[in-house]
Amino acid sequence: MPTPSDARHKLDSIMTLAHVNTFHPNAFDWPKARSRENLAFLSEVAWGAPGHEGEAVAYIVKELGQLAEIERHVSATMALILSEMPLHTGLGPLGDGHELHHAVSCFAAEELHHANTFFRYVREISGLEPRLDDGLFAERLAVFQEDDHPWVKLIALCCSAYVGESVITVFEHRVDHLDPDREYFLTQLLHLHGLDEARHVQVDHFVMRDLYQELTPAQRVRTRELVGRIEELNRRLAVSFADLVKELTGVDVNTVPAAQTQLAITQAFGSRIFDEHGAPRTVDEVLDEELLDLVGGFSGVGHVHAPRRRPLSLPQPSQTSQQSETPQQSQISQQSQKSQQSQQSAGVK
Ligand SMILES: [Fe+2]
Ligand SMILES: [Fe+2]
Repeated sequence: MPTPSDARHKLDSIMTLAHVNTFHPNAFDWPKARSRENLAFLSEVAWGAPGHEGEAVAYIVKELGQLAEIERHVSATMALILSEMPLHTGLGPLGDGHELHHAVSCFAAEELHHANTFFRYVREISGLEPRLDDGLFAERLAVFQEDDHPWVKLIALCCSAYVGESVITVFEHRVDHLDPDREYFLTQLLHLHGLDEARHVQVDHFVMRDLYQELTPAQRVRTRELVGRIEELNRRLAVSFADLVKELTGVDVNTVPAAQTQLAITQAFGSRIFDEHGAPRTVDEVLDEELLDLVGGFSGVGHVHAPRRRPLSLPQPSQTSQQSETPQQSQISQQSQKSQQSQQSAGVK
């Protein structure tokens, strides 16, 4: 039977290399993001073939702009929860010590970097300022400003974030498969983002399993209510972003093939996040054959976060022109290799 000290040690292990396996937006060679070769790769990722650069850019502006908005909200809500933790007396043994405070603080700081990076990326590739008049930020924050226990808020927030983090992990697998040498900007971006996300997913799993055990039955019910509310607001946000992109670019992003697969995967992950008893579960635990085929066919990988379950293959990408490595790319490439080695040695992913 694991003790609270074991659980806190687990968190400490997750965070050990957080200062190594991470990135800063300055590390990217930003002007390269909009090069012809990089836009052709976006078409490959979004459409499965070159020649659809305009639709691909519109789709990525919608998805990554929306993701940035959600990451900014996750960061702000975590800061809010952190501010409430010292005021609560009933946090139990997992609230003792620095471990959970440190893990959530790093998570929040990293998400703000991600939001900054993705907002800059969508501006860079599109030349547009995809600013929503109504991003529902106040409404989304208000879900977590009621008189709930900090653990209820944290678990609900992580369950909701976890769905999006799992979907972007599937995308990371897809671009890694299409661009195994990580030549293109999007692959580098999602790979470096994934260094943080691999840790976030482990923190999510900790929160969904260890911290969830601390809740009373009423708090568990309330957690699911908050997840339902934030997910509904996030769905409204997605519709607003799709409308904005249609207005700015004329592209209906729902017609992009990757969007249709992504929607099916998102809906499957979201609808299966709680088991029949209401407890959270991981996305790899809910991969039945049908969902595995969908995920595997899209990403070339037979798992999301868990180790590979079965070998899968995708057709090789069509040839897009090769690029020479700039000093900035070289820096990213070296950092990626170093981080990957550190990650593997730490068993992070
Ligand atoms: Fe993120
Ligand atoms: Fe994250």
